[in-house]
Amino acid sequence: MTLFHLIAGWIGYLLICLLGLILIAFLCFCLYIKYIHLKYDHIPGPPRDSFIFGHLPTIQREMSNDRVVHDKFLEWSETYGPVYRINGMHVVMLCVTCPETTKEVLMSPKYPKDSLFYKRLFNLFGQRFLGSGLVTAQNHDEWYKQRRIMDPAFSSLHLRGQMGAFNERAERLMDKLADMADTNTAANMQHMFNCVTLDVITKVAFGVELDLLNKSDSPFPNAIEMCLKGIVHSVRDFTFQFYPKNKKFINEVKKSCQLLRSTGRQWINERKMAVQNGEDVPKDILTQILKTAGKEENIANDDEELMLDNFVTFFIAGQETTANQLAFAVMELGRLPEILTKVRQEVDDVLGMKQEINFDDLGKMTYLSQVLKETLRLYPTAPGTSRFIPNDIVINGIPIPAGVTCVFNSYVCGRLDKFFEDPLKFDPERFHPDAAKPYYCYYPFALGPRSCLGQTFAQMEAKVVMAKLLQRFDFSLLPGQSFDVLDTGSLRPKSGVVCNIRHRGQTPAA
Ligand code: HEM
Repeated sequence: MTLFHLIAGWIGYLLICLLGLILIAFLCFCLYIKYIHLKYDHIPGPPRDSFIFGHLPTIQREMSNDRVVHDKFLEWSETYGPVYRINGMHVVMLCVTCPETTKEVLMSPKYPKDSLFYKRLFNLFGQRFLGSGLVTAQNHDEWYKQRRIMDPAFSSLHLRGQMGAFNERAERLMDKLADMADTNTAANMQHMFNCVTLDVITKVAFGVELDLLNKSDSPFPNAIEMCLKGIVHSVRDFTFQFYPKNKKFINEVKKSCQLLRSTGRQWINERKMAVQNGEDVPKDILTQILKTAGKEENIANDDEELMLDNFVTFFIAGQETTANQLAFAVMELGRLPEILTKVRQEVDDVLGMKQEINFDDLGKMTYLSQVLKETLRLYPTAPGTSRFIPNDIVINGIPIPAGVTCVFNSYVCGRLDKFFEDPLKFDPERFHPDAAKPYYCYYPFALGPRSCLGQTFAQMEAKVVMAKLLQRFDFSLLPGQSFDVLDTGSLRPKSGVVCNIRHRGQTPAA
């Protein structure tokens, strides 16, 4: 009995000590938050929802209500100016729309990508995902080595050579649309564009034929979709993985990551064998990915993983963004007949009846470029980037102590009326070659050394697909669908952009 009392006493004593320690740790954390508030509260910002969670409850609320969180950031930008502060526990993020700072920070290698966001993409729920590939690498030298190796696969000389593949994949889409026009079937354009951009990236980047428009059993579209959803949950809510109700979803995301990585392993090995056998291999992205590893005989495990990181990076970065841009463009053209007529006239003047679009034709379709640029102003499908600020700086006259993350949001900049008059109006004339160039307030592909490697690739692909679509078909948006934006990390049209498709000159069905 005495022994029992003694043990119970000790356990009670230990519990009190433990509680005391937790309380002290919590108080220290609160003191640290207070210190951070004192350090950064001179920067304007909306009132915090709570001392500990800062603005996170508002942001969570926006996201759970299926609204576009960037609209909240836009509203705050309009209220608090070119730099404002967001707190989330001990972390401070600055939302910056000041063009001078955008230029200074994005154009310089001095400011690394911030680990808060990009480290979360290394693994997805414990499964390696983008790792240290091109988008996520934070160390400048490690990134620079990869970028130098990958650059040749995106040179304009190399991309000119890919026009055949762009044309051929886009033709398959046209065949599919022709079937739909013949059978009076409505087309979900976002889905169709997703198939074609995935077909293009697998062919042009990895030399693999998927033909998704005709084969609906491929696991890749769903795997990519799951990974993208996983990114959103993992990045925006760090508690997501702790709820048992999310376990099934998380397992599916992990399986999808594994599928992409095991596919990468298989395709890389096949290419390696082809190289070793002296076969003639294309100088495509996959060949360049192989060069990021050491000599073939002694590829270290780290190098192998890095190759897979980049494989997955191109799969993810190179597909949905372009597909959504195309879907938004069709959505706007479907609503604006005057712009549609003008851009179609240009396509007719440049292409006439010819089927194969060549590189020089692309340069001649300047109004189509304007339409695509304007689409990304209102709907930047990858809506921003962020950088860590390791030294004290001044933004718009406000001294900013080191240690914060600056977020550069192209959705917000594109919709601020101080940069673009009547910002919600879709007006391609803003990007007329003679119009003043937007000064560091338009950056759908980011800016500076870490800007999008696939920008030219994406816009060539988008132009080929759009030009063929305009050349061959009339389309009208099915009535009653929403023109809202869906925020799934990347931006996409909520409705999927469902259209009735007709051959040019065909009378609309009754
Ligand atoms: C409309 C289409 C596209 C848009 C709007 C877009 C946008 C962007 C943006 C905003 C970034 C910077 C991301 C960040 O800082 O976190 C980026 C980076 C990147 N994008 Fe794209 N992208 C598009 C298409 C593509 C395509 C087709 C490819 C590949 C074929 C590609 C490959 C990459 C790569 C590799 C990076 C990382 C570059 C680096 O840090 O060196 N993108 N893209």
